[in-house]
Amino acid sequence: MEGEIILTEHLSKRFGKIIAIRNLDIRVMKGITGLIGPNGSGKTTTINILIGLIKPSSGKAYVFSLDSWKESDKIRRRIGVLHEDQFLPGSFTILRYLQHIARLKRLREVRSEIKWVLSEFQLRDYMERRIASLSAGLRQRVALAQSVLGRPELVILDEPTSNLDPIARMSLLESIRRLNKEESINFLISSHILPELEKVCKDVIIMYNGTAVEQGPYNKLKEKYFQGVYKIISSNNMLLTKELRELGIVEKVDALDDSLLVKVKSGYYNEFINSLYEIIKSKNLKLLLFEPLHPNLEDIFKEAIKGGNYG
Ligand SMILES: Nc1ncnc2c1ncn2[C@@H]1O[C@H](COP(=O)(O)OP(=O)(O)OP(=O)(O)O)[C@@H](O)[C@H]1O
Ligand SMILES: [Mg+2]
Repeated sequence: MEGEIILTEHLSKRFGKIIAIRNLDIRVMKGITGLIGPNGSGKTTTINILIGLIKPSSGKAYVFSLDSWKESDKIRRRIGVLHEDQFLPGSFTILRYLQHIARLKRLREVRSEIKWVLSEFQLRDYMERRIASLSAGLRQRVALAQSVLGRPELVILDEPTSNLDPIARMSLLESIRRLNKEESINFLISSHILPELEKVCKDVIIMYNGTAVEQGPYNKLKEKYFQGVYKIISSNNMLLTKELRELGIVEKVDALDDSLLVKVKSGYYNEFINSLYEIIKSKNLKLLLFEPLHPNLEDIFKEAIKGGNYG
């Protein structure tokens, strides 16, 4: 399919008795994709299969239409990875480490490329420091820098923000957005920090128990998981509340500061909008605000993994 960079088909992985991945079918398109799921849901195992580190028990995984196990050399030349427990050699300086990675990746413009990542991740002032002497956050920035070195087509980040302070996190998110826009680098990012992830992701995959329970464009999921809650402000909220409560299709009306939060029964959203406009007209009210409250990524996540006996 046009724009597809990752595809898995009935992918499964067992470790002895443990089934880490079961019948996983995911498709990752160009852009920035978030991979989320509770601890142990199989995100890291999926990533390790995609980059050819572990062999699937059954099923297939493709990156750039290449077989993740049989053609992993070809894949690895075109991607960058930040591992969950990324190894960094403590006795190397940042500069020497990046030079080493550049050599492994057989990059051509080594000097300019290293200069670029050092500045991208604000590491210039530290480049002569030994990695062992760095704080956890700085080490994480070094790990990020190596993953985008050479501007690969796809960068896979497993928990990239866990050690970062709030400012470094914001700056990482900005970098990801910019690298995607200006350098056309695609990202697959696994993270538990959903409010952050939702700011950068175009697409989302939700894993639970080794399988994908939901996936697609974040905007579409927001509509799909819409719970029928509207925020409304009118010229007479008291009167409007009374009228709305008389409609059989409104479950609840809550007053919140100067606005109303109205929960409409599922399946009656269009009917509700028509009734609301009729009330407004017949009672001579002014409608000052009318806005559907879409769920955020956390709401969608909780809803998608419901029924799976989680938490
Ligand atoms: N090498 C291994 N040997 C045995 N079991 C494993 C191995 N690797 C992973 N598992 C198991 O597979 C399941 C999925 O683990 P995985 O690390 O992929 O989850 P995850 O979604 O990345 O979790 P987290 O959010 O905690 O990083 C877990 O039950 C884990 O214990
Ligand atoms: Mg993991």
